[in-house]
Amino acid sequence: MDRRSFLFRSIAPLALAAPVGCTTAVRTRGVREFKLVAMAGQALTDTGKPAIPAWTYGGSVPGPQLRVRQGDRVRVEVTNRLQVPTTVHWHGVRLPNAMDGVPHLTQAPIEPGARFVYEFDAVDAGTYWYHSHFQSSEQLDRGLYGTLVVEEPRPVPVDRDVTWVLDDWRITAAGLVSESFGNTHDMAHAGRIGNTLTVNGSVQDRFAVCAGERLRLRLVNAANARIFGLRFQGHRPMVIAIDGQPVQPHEPEGGRIVVAPGMRCDLVIDAVGRPGERHEVQDVFYPREQYVLMDLAYASGAGAAGRTQPLAALAGNPLPEPDLKDATSHEIVFGGGMMGNLHQALLDGKPTDMRGLLRQGKAWAINGHVSASHHMDPMLRLRLGRTYVLRMHNDTAWHHPIHLHGHAFRVLRRNGQPTRHREWQDTMLMSPREAVEVAFVADNPGSWMFHCHILEHQEGGMMGVVEVA
Ligand code: C2O
Ligand code: CU
Repeated sequence: MDRRSFLFRSIAPLALAAPVGCTTAVRTRGVREFKLVAMAGQALTDTGKPAIPAWTYGGSVPGPQLRVRQGDRVRVEVTNRLQVPTTVHWHGVRLPNAMDGVPHLTQAPIEPGARFVYEFDAVDAGTYWYHSHFQSSEQLDRGLYGTLVVEEPRPVPVDRDVTWVLDDWRITAAGLVSESFGNTHDMAHAGRIGNTLTVNGSVQDRFAVCAGERLRLRLVNAANARIFGLRFQGHRPMVIAIDGQPVQPHEPEGGRIVVAPGMRCDLVIDAVGRPGERHEVQDVFYPREQYVLMDLAYASGAGAAGRTQPLAALAGNPLPEPDLKDATSHEIVFGGGMMGNLHQALLDGKPTDMRGLLRQGKAWAINGHVSASHHMDPMLRLRLGRTYVLRMHNDTAWHHPIHLHGHAFRVLRRNGQPTRHREWQDTMLMSPREAVEVAFVADNPGSWMFHCHILEHQEGGMMGVVEVA
């Protein structure tokens, strides 16, 4: 299998993961305060080549990992030192609508030089992330993302709690982020797939482990478009949470951990290798493009005895259980893209054919509507406190990770088959032509984005607003 770091042949440091550092954090009576500065900085440090200019929170990519305890109040002051407006969205966090960070919908953009204070309670434990929601395709791609970890009162006992933020970058021969943002080809196909893979902002070829240790590994996919399907050779990772929400611990299907853009997956991995061994972590999602992300590299010298306790499930978060007997259903059809069936759709109220859509930088529709960013009429109006079932159908030739803000939903069925774990998710990957049913209680009032997290698809029209009132 190819060992691929593309343009950047890696000279990776032994200890991966310059542990994602923390900003100045103060705790006053259960309030955790952080300051984030959106500013020019660098990414892809540690490649042995010059780092590339990036847009960052605090100077490096990813931004600082914010860690709080479940139940804490979180206050984050964001200062914009970029030359362009921005906002910060707290992906997966069930917070008040005004704190959701969607420009024009929930707040005015934070102008250059200006500040905005986000404040919310961390009601759910788990792995979350924050990112710009202003011209997302460009701003995330340039590096505006970081993680938010909400610690459980009773976490799974492990020896190390590690976060891997996965991303890919499209780097030019000159060693810069390619400026090909918004090109129609990416938008109408799989999105902006990069040529340089990073873990925690740098190209890595190994991750150091000690024989016998038990790891909690929090995977976060911050890429614009690339879906990861990781396989840990010689190891049997157990999935303990998806999108921050606990799930019955289980081995992933086929030993492959699929993490689409926006998604998170928490794993527990027992380091069952022997001192000095190396085991590949492969990405096998795209069958014709498999490669080795990096190796688990065992330190030499004696390891630990190893933990043998069976894994217990994490306690669930306080999510309202859908009342399926008293639910209202809505059909949602995703259409468009190349090799699809979409002949025409409504853009700004006008029936427009595919050629006309492409001319205007669009290619995707939800229930026949193509979103334009200045057009934010709700596609669904839901009543506060009621249960809704969304029957979604991907009528396209492409994968789409579909994200709903402000809520988590249970995934009930895929192509008519009940899911094994009825997992809670906030970002749900749909395969081409797949039908998926999810259910949730609309318990959070406000106007919430509902969109594909392949950011080029989102900008290309695959976006809508769900109003809860
Ligand atoms: Cu992760 Cu609407 O976003
Ligand atoms: Cu999509």
